[in-house]
Amino acid sequence: MNGLDLHHRLEKNIGLLIFGILFVTSIGGLVQVLPSLYQKSLITPGVNTHVYEPLQLVGRDIYIREGCNTCHSQQIRPLVAEVERYGSYSRADEFVYDRPFLWGSKRTGPDLHRIGGKYSDDWHRLHLINPRDVVPRSIMPSYPWLEKRQANNDDDIVAKLSGLQRLGHPYTQDDINNAPAALEGKSEMDALIAYLQVLGTAYPEGDLSWLIYYSQEICL
Ligand code: HEC
Repeated sequence: MNGLDLHHRLEKNIGLLIFGILFVTSIGGLVQVLPSLYQKSLITPGVNTHVYEPLQLVGRDIYIREGCNTCHSQQIRPLVAEVERYGSYSRADEFVYDRPFLWGSKRTGPDLHRIGGKYSDDWHRLHLINPRDVVPRSIMPSYPWLEKRQANNDDDIVAKLSGLQRLGHPYTQDDINNAPAALEGKSEMDALIAYLQVLGTAYPEGDLSWLIYYSQEICL
């Protein structure tokens, strides 16, 4: 069978065509994805990347439970417009302890990867209870119940930390034993704010990546 025959058969047989398309695109996918699973710079935590503290971890789960990630992405692309608006672009080594990743692509609200330290805890509290109290035209939903619920409400923080430890996160046995005490007296609001305030702080201000992108723009 020559190449033309094969081509004709492929075009006329929908099953074969689907298989052919899947086969070819999967090669492209594998070539792109597989190396990144083993590339050291992508899977080694950055110098400032730390595991989440228990309160931050609970806050992260509340963030997922409340669907914050359906409106907010957590990845700043290396484009001048994004870096100017949100701050230093996101690097893979900042997400090594994120399970699951919350990068997202839907931005009904602004990207939150560098939100840590941008506002005070009190600002976040007011904003989460009723966003319109601080941003009059905001369309973000209110989350008043977070103030009233305890952070150790329905989650077993010890089991959660032990699970992550088993997956390779460097929690010590002391970290795990002391975790319930760290949640004592804290509300879900405290936990969520603790999480928001640590987001993107692995590369604090002073990071020179800004310069790279400004100089790139000037060169273009
Ligand atoms: C329906 C979409 C939607 C959901 C769900 C949502 N937000 Fe927002 N968020 C927005 C919009 C729109 C803004 C911009 C207006 C404002 O600041 O309120 C915003 C702004 C913010 C800001 C301020 C960002 C900045 O740089 O000024 C924070 C922080 C924030 N949201 C956190 C959260 C958290 C935490 C949750 C989950 C508890 C959440 N959002 C859920 C739409 C949403």
